[in-house]
Amino acid sequence: RSTRDADHYRLVAAPAWAEILPGVRTPVLAYNGTFPGPTIRARAGRRAVVEYVNRLGEPTTVHLHGGEVWPEDDGGPMDLVAPGTARRYRYPDRQRAATLWYHDHAHHLESEHVYRGLAGTYVLHDRHEAALGLPSGRYDVPIVLKDARFGADGGLVYLPGDFGGRTTILVNGRPQPYFRVAARKYRLRLLNAANMRFFNARLSTGDAFQQIATDRGLLPAPLTTTELPLSPGERADIVVDFSRYEPGTRIVLRNGFSTHPATDAILRFDVCGRVRDGSRVPERLAALPALRPATVTREFRLSMDERTGMGFINGRAFDAARIDFTVARGAAETWRIVNDNQVIEHNFHVHLAGFRVLERNGGPPLPTERGLKDTVMLPPGGSVRIRVSFDPRYRGDYVYHCHVIDHSSMGMMGRFRVA
Ligand code: C2O
Ligand code: CU
Ligand code: CU
Repeated sequence: RSTRDADHYRLVAAPAWAEILPGVRTPVLAYNGTFPGPTIRARAGRRAVVEYVNRLGEPTTVHLHGGEVWPEDDGGPMDLVAPGTARRYRYPDRQRAATLWYHDHAHHLESEHVYRGLAGTYVLHDRHEAALGLPSGRYDVPIVLKDARFGADGGLVYLPGDFGGRTTILVNGRPQPYFRVAARKYRLRLLNAANMRFFNARLSTGDAFQQIATDRGLLPAPLTTTELPLSPGERADIVVDFSRYEPGTRIVLRNGFSTHPATDAILRFDVCGRVRDGSRVPERLAALPALRPATVTREFRLSMDERTGMGFINGRAFDAARIDFTVARGAAETWRIVNDNQVIEHNFHVHLAGFRVLERNGGPPLPTERGLKDTVMLPPGGSVRIRVSFDPRYRGDYVYHCHVIDHSSMGMMGRFRVA
């Protein structure tokens, strides 16, 4: 596969300083010197080539989360890029328009790497979506959500497995920023890039907004909702129409899951003047691919040993030398995933394949998870049934794991082979 007729991007991972807190220089790990990494905007139907250089003192990988790519370009946990070396990743970009993201995945290091900054948004556009007339250009904004702890010296404090309680919420790398918005419609691409924190996006006015996309692209029709839950790794695109507010109005995007007042506000919108708005949110967005009948049903039980801090799927911790199961190329399968823990939140992410949520806790899925997904939330004691659909063009070895990143480091991950 040649790299001609492709769009080229360069990503250099290196130590850098970022001004996260006003007037404070914080050491971070950065792609191209920015925290978070630069937003890559790619076009479906054009191949993308990422020339990656690792200038950190540790091995890294670049994984395109949500990307349908060959195993050698997947940046999986064991396919490391050694310090001081470079690597070329090729992304076919033959899937539908979606908000994807790229992040480090080096096993046992990914949690700290992502926490310190090795993550960015990868926006895939396509012609179908462009023709719909949704808010675009400067009115189409990635919103990268995460949280962090700062030491007295302004440094990032990394505490594995401890991101509850009181941390500082960061939006696009800044604490609770305000965003001056024109009184018109905006498309906001919400990405939960936090290591462990769950978000439930709500407007302080209690007003509804429209969800137009899930992890892997547009919904069949917009969903009007007042809340949008996102576990780590999940994305959702929403449209907020600020023309219904008087200029001067301040609206706060809040986290409905917050258990501490300090982590309640995510960001503030300051509504400015009215501008002409030629965008629209059509009644029909993009039909979902037909749900193919499953040939196989599998069960995945997520559990933790609180004493050792080990994570397991079906009683087994991650073993890079073990293939946990094999999927027939191009197959559709039903997977039932159960969170066996009554206290700890998990979720579940599959590389390569997208899926649909068929059932949650024996009932219908959440309204906000009725599109194409690649990551699904599993609250304590919860279960889901999903239909995973494999594209016959790809074969090889991939992983699945809990995307509470510290948990995959602790072993809550497995490998499957598409053959
Ligand atoms: Cu977001 Cu295995 O990754
Ligand atoms: Cu992934
Ligand atoms: Cu977990």
